[in-house]
Amino acid sequence: MEPRLVALSGTPGTGKSTLAHLASVRLGVHLVDLGVLAKECGALTSYDGARKSWDVDLERLQQAVEGLPRQQGTSLLVGHAAHLLDVPLVVVLRTDPRVLRERLGQRGWPTSKVDENVEAETLDTITIEAVEERGIDAVVELDTSSAGIEVLLEQLQQVLAGERAKYRPGGIDYSGRLLESSEGRVAHTRR
Ligand SMILES: Nc1ncnc2c1ncn2[C@@H]1O[C@H](COP(=O)(O)OP(=O)(O)O)[C@@H](O)[C@H]1O
Ligand SMILES: [Mg+2]
Repeated sequence: MEPRLVALSGTPGTGKSTLAHLASVRLGVHLVDLGVLAKECGALTSYDGARKSWDVDLERLQQAVEGLPRQQGTSLLVGHAAHLLDVPLVVVLRTDPRVLRERLGQRGWPTSKVDENVEAETLDTITIEAVEERGIDAVVELDTSSAGIEVLLEQLQQVLAGERAKYRPGGIDYSGRLLESSEGRVAHTRR
């Protein structure tokens, strides 16, 4: 099988690591953890103390990806910046913001960081960036809010086999959640 690179992106908490590990065991895809790779190649440039996250030098990360030993078959590049890399297929995992808030709450993150990610998810941020960067035909979305992991694995398998139309961006819309933000923060800023 020809080597190929597939990005697996999504807001933190949408289930990237979970699906990636299952795909590695069950589908035999090769995993590249972009968080680890970014650290190893010195692409984590500066720590943003306010957001409690690192800024990533994408050019350096792209070079590191291109320098990886070529694996047979599919390599999944896993991370919340994966969709910004120059790869022919981007899988974006999506989660209902109410479910995501619960998942992120369990991580013990500061409320501001949970809020920031829940808002980003509500506004389709990663999908929009992916479509801007790679074009709509290169992007698919899978919803992890209630689909069990086996269903998701099956959907990922379909996508890797060439299915795109069924999972085309636009099918998932959480914008109604803007009016029912559990913090009321977003709702209060609306007029
Ligand atoms: N399909 C799913 N259904 C229900 N819970 C899930 C699913 N995928 C992941 N989770 C749970 O959501 C949380 C975040 O998953 P994780 O894989 O760490 O996300 P990410 O790597 O995108 O940050 C974990 O507690 C995980 O068990
Ligand atoms: Mg993860």
